[in-house]
Amino acid sequence: MFKSFGRGERTSATTVEHPALQVKPRHIGIIMDGNGRWAKKRGLPRMAGHHAGMLAMREAIRACDDFGIECVTLYAFSTENWKRPVAEVEYLMRLPEQFFRNEIDELIKRGVKIRFLGDTSRLPSYTQETVRTSMQRTEHNTGMTVNFALNYGGRTELMSAIERYAKEVAEGRATVGDLTEAKFDRYLDTAGLPPLDLIIRTSGEIRLSNFLLWQAAYAELWFTEVLWPDFTRDDLFQAISDYGKRKRRFGAIE
Ligand code: IPE
Ligand code: IPE
Ligand code: MG
Repeated sequence: MFKSFGRGERTSATTVEHPALQVKPRHIGIIMDGNGRWAKKRGLPRMAGHHAGMLAMREAIRACDDFGIECVTLYAFSTENWKRPVAEVEYLMRLPEQFFRNEIDELIKRGVKIRFLGDTSRLPSYTQETVRTSMQRTEHNTGMTVNFALNYGGRTELMSAIERYAKEVAEGRATVGDLTEAKFDRYLDTAGLPPLDLIIRTSGEIRLSNFLLWQAAYAELWFTEVLWPDFTRDDLFQAISDYGKRKRRFGAIE
């Protein structure tokens, strides 16, 4: 029957039985872009856009859970975003604390398991504290996995994976020539997660910006002009139902 809906809104599109949700992505990656432009359009500081983006993210997580998605990865801060003004970086680094203070109870109630992708050891101590506690408090949950890509970059992830593998070879724990794609997966930040089926990017930019490069190899891509703070569960529903209509061939013929 119906899934438990928590505090999420219940619209016709929230039922997991909806015909358009029959073929669903197991793992969705979202490049949440356009916060700055959203704020600019309203004559507001960029930080206001990031705050509004956080609220849109909350709704996207609820909607993914209501739609029965197994795993969602949210691109929150890239390895390139350190190039932004210090005040903006600081504001972004404070957002996880704020987000989990308000949302952790609902996330736990929904059975969500929190993970982080990227090098969190480079984050300010207060952000690291939030990373630690939110993972600890949800580690035994068995519902949807929500990954926050924080100080994440696909190239850095690949280089770390290669380094880890090379170390194992040097120590005699792995052998050159034995590496397979499946084995390589285990060295990545996404080890153990379902394959990435769909990438959504908002704000009209048509690029990956260093997001999940290895995992994106056969993901379906879905772009929208909608700026991230304006992204709703109906947009997500649209993305998932479009995904359901795609023919995934993986190089084969039908
Ligand atoms: C996405 O919005 C949020 C982060 C990259 C952290 P932007 O801040 O990139 O918004 P635009 O692209 O400037 O509109
Ligand atoms: C990608 O957005 C990173 C995140 C959404 C966290 P950017 O706004 O940083 O990407 P570019 O600079 O337009 O490629
Ligand atoms: Mg941007």
